[in-house]
Amino acid sequence: MLQKQKILIIGSGGREHAVGWKVAQYERAGDLYFAPGNAGTLELGTNVSISATDIAKLVEFAQKEKIDLTLALPDDPLALGIVDAFQVEGLRIWGPTKGAAELEWSKAYAKDFMKRHSIPTAKYEVFTDFKKAKMYVEKGSLPIVIKASGLALGKGVTVAQTKEEALKTLEDVLINKIFGNAGNEVVIEEYLDGIEISAHAISDGQSWKMFPPSQDHKRIFDGNVGPNTGGMGVIAPPPFVGSAMMKKIEKEIVKPTIEGMAKEGRPFVGILYPGIMLTKEGPKVFEFNARFGDPETQTYMRLLDTDLLDIVDASIDGKISDLKIKWKENTFACNIALASGGYPGTYEKGNIISGIVEAGMQTDVVIFHAGTKVVRQDLTTNGGRVLGVSAIGGSMKEALEKAYRAIEKIKFEGMQYRKDIGQSALEIKKI
Ligand code: AMP
Ligand code: GLY
Repeated sequence: MLQKQKILIIGSGGREHAVGWKVAQYERAGDLYFAPGNAGTLELGTNVSISATDIAKLVEFAQKEKIDLTLALPDDPLALGIVDAFQVEGLRIWGPTKGAAELEWSKAYAKDFMKRHSIPTAKYEVFTDFKKAKMYVEKGSLPIVIKASGLALGKGVTVAQTKEEALKTLEDVLINKIFGNAGNEVVIEEYLDGIEISAHAISDGQSWKMFPPSQDHKRIFDGNVGPNTGGMGVIAPPPFVGSAMMKKIEKEIVKPTIEGMAKEGRPFVGILYPGIMLTKEGPKVFEFNARFGDPETQTYMRLLDTDLLDIVDASIDGKISDLKIKWKENTFACNIALASGGYPGTYEKGNIISGIVEAGMQTDVVIFHAGTKVVRQDLTTNGGRVLGVSAIGGSMKEALEKAYRAIEKIKFEGMQYRKDIGQSALEIKKI
C-alpha cells in the first residue's frame, strides 16, 4: 500500500486551489494543508492561518505536523528564502532557493544574467540614480518600458508612451518610492512589439521538461486595454503556437537559463516560467518567473495526465530526465477570472457569491477559488480576483464556450470579467 503523505501548500490563490485539487486526486495524498488558503481549499483540506510570508511559523508548523512535502508556490515566500529555510531544517520542500528565484525577484539580476548567457531579451540599462535615468529616457525612443527591479505585485511595469509619462514613473519609483525598496533600482528597456505567451518548464537543476505553452491576458479590459492585473484569463495551449516555435523557445531560452543557473552555482529546481514576446526577430524574454503562473496553472492542472506529485518528486530528486509528462490529447483549456469591481484598483470585500454550485456542475467545468472566504456560512468575495472558471474541450472555441456559459450562473455585486479571453488567439495564424 502506498504511504499517505501529509502535504502543505503555501498560498491562497487560484493557483493553490488548482494544485490542491489535482494533488487531492492521487492515492498517496493524505491530509492537505493550505497556508493560508481560501474558501475553495477548505473543501480539500485544512486552512492554516499562517501568512505565506511568515517563514519561521511555516517551518514550525511543518515540523510540528510532520509534513512530508511542502509546495512553495507564490513569489514572495520564494524571494524570502522559504526553500532554504525548510532545507536547513531537513524538511522536504519543492521550489527554487532564494538564489535561484533571484531570476524573478530582481529584474536587474535577470537582465544581467540574460546578457551573460546570450538569452534573447529587450535591450536595457539599470539605474539607481534618478538624474542618470532621466538622461537615458530623454535620449531614448518611445514607447519605453520602465520596471521596478523588485517584486511589486505585478504592478511594477510601465509602458510609457510619452517622455512625460516615463519621467513621472521614474520620479514615482526612484524618488517617491511608491514600490518601497522594490524600486531602489529600475530597469529601463526597449519596447518589444509582438504577441505575448507564457512558457513553463520543470527543472531539477540540470535537466528540464517543457510544458505546453499558454497565454495569459494581463490587462483588465476587453481588447487588452486598461491597467495590468495579476491575469484576467488564460488559454492553453494557444492554437497559434506551433511545435517549431516551442523548440526554439526551449533551445534559445530555457536551455541556456537552466544550464547558466547551474554553471553559476544556483541550480534552478522548480518551475521556470519565462514571459515571452513573440517578436518579428523571434521569441524574447520580457520577464522571468521562478514559479507556476497564476492563472496558467489552473489550465495546466486541467490538462495534466501524469501524477503531479511524481513530477514534483522528480524535480526535487534530480530525475527530470527520466520523467515522461503526459498531457490530455487533443484537449484545450481555459480559465477566466471573475474579479471584484474596481480591481486592480481598490475594491470591496465581503459581497455574497451565488450560483457557483450550479456553474461547477456544467460539463467539463471546474471552478477554482482565488479571493473567497466563508463568512457565517455564506461564500463571500475576499480579493481582487475572486474565482477562476476553467473548462476543457476538444477545441479552444469549445472550451471557451463552456466556461462562458458557466459564468452566466455566477453572480456577486460588482463582478467584472473579460468577455474576450482567447478571441484574438483564435484569429491569429499559426506561428
Ligand atoms: P511583468 O510585470 O514583467 O509581467 O510585465 C507586465 C507586462 O508588461 C507584461 O505582461 C507585458 O505585457 C509588458 N511588458 C513588459 N516588458 C515589456 C517590454 N519590454 N516590451 C513590451 N511590453 C512589455
Ligand atoms: N500569469 C501571471 C503571473 O503569474 O505572474
